[in-house]
Amino acid sequence: MEIRRVSILGAGTMGRGIAQLFAQHGYPTVLCDPMAPALSRAREFIRKGLARGVQKGKFSARDRDAAEGALRFTSRIQDVLPAELIVEAAPEDLGLKQRIFRELDARALPEVLLATNTSSLSVSAIAEKTQHPERVLGTHFFNPPPVMKLVEVVRARRTDARVFQAVWDLLKSLGKTPVEVQDSPGFIVNRVLRPYYLEGMRLVEVEGAGIETVDQSAREVGGVPMGPFELMDFIGLDVNLAIARAIYGALGNPARLKPHPLQEALVQKGELGRKSGVGFYLYRDSEISGLNPAVEKQLPKREKISLSPEEIWRRLCGGILEEARLLHGEGRASEEAIDTAVRLGMRFPQGPFEWARVSSDAPKV
Ligand SMILES: NC(=O)c1ccc[n+]([C@@H]2O[C@H](COP(=O)([O-])OP(=O)(O)OC[C@H]3O[C@@H](n4cnc5c(N)ncnc54)[C@H](O)[C@@H]3O)[C@@H](O)[C@H]2O)c1
Repeated sequence: MEIRRVSILGAGTMGRGIAQLFAQHGYPTVLCDPMAPALSRAREFIRKGLARGVQKGKFSARDRDAAEGALRFTSRIQDVLPAELIVEAAPEDLGLKQRIFRELDARALPEVLLATNTSSLSVSAIAEKTQHPERVLGTHFFNPPPVMKLVEVVRARRTDARVFQAVWDLLKSLGKTPVEVQDSPGFIVNRVLRPYYLEGMRLVEVEGAGIETVDQSAREVGGVPMGPFELMDFIGLDVNLAIARAIYGALGNPARLKPHPLQEALVQKGELGRKSGVGFYLYRDSEISGLNPAVEKQLPKREKISLSPEEIWRRLCGGILEEARLLHGEGRASEEAIDTAVRLGMRFPQGPFEWARVSSDAPKV
């Protein structure tokens, strides 16, 4: 199963980055999108990305020219077929992805491997619409794909072990750190990070902690780049809530993962975080300029005696640890895979099991 040529379907945020990554490593790469404007935006985006790589000394001008030469842009699905691997990065819609996989399966040679970049849909549900589900798996890249080392490689119910291994080896050859996860809602990072956000919202709503205090505690005690509110605003409250709802529903509506009304109210008002200039915080030129006064009004009056930064971090990280233990207990991923995914996917200094081993504060099993 030697992979020599790669095709990507969908030239949006993720598809264009995945195409750039493969082209940079010398793979003849076809990038396909039915929308002509998406294709021309992707072409320009990749050109700039490669030029930046040269400026920063990551590769030579000759390598950039080779990468540009390796790329082909198309809006015809038949052009993606001559490849050993096709990666789908179309919008997050189960029906659409099932249709795409049914068509690819019917038209591509049986030895062509088919990967989906879905972040919250069931890879098995996509694979089951094909005649050859053994050649289907998930490759969950993180944004931006050329930069982020982590890829969650998702083994669906019927993925063939050789298919999994071939894609695993390919990702390693690109300098990525793949982690293995069985097909399950939210895979690793999106699932175990749920309590980070929810616990943050409970801390402000029930315990009277300040939003800024929670974020600052996470950064200063936990050493993470963003606290839960900064991170939700950064990701987009709507995108984050859609993932929250998908995971909650797919796991059978467990009370601990119920989406929080505070976040739902903001999304309903169109206050979506950094991209709309207002979320939990207000933004001026993409920088935080203060708290959203409407959120403050909804919260209880601050208690005089508030939680210590250490206790806040213990609550946030303890929530992640609890979800990580559940995921591991279900046999979906190893402790090592979970730790690696949280470190590389979220830029945390430690994964939850590593934290539990070195911290006397961590909740015991
Ligand atoms: N954006 C992220 O940070 C991120 C991270 C990890 C995974 N994902 C997942 O990656 C996938 C793509 O997300 P995105 O953010 O790049 O979306 P996007 O909306 O930026 O891009 C999707 C592209 O797919 C194209 N498209 C529509 N129908 C198509 C079809 N039938 N065939 C091929 N292309 C089609 C659209 O024209 C668009 O250009 C989703 O499944 C998403 O959940 C996104």
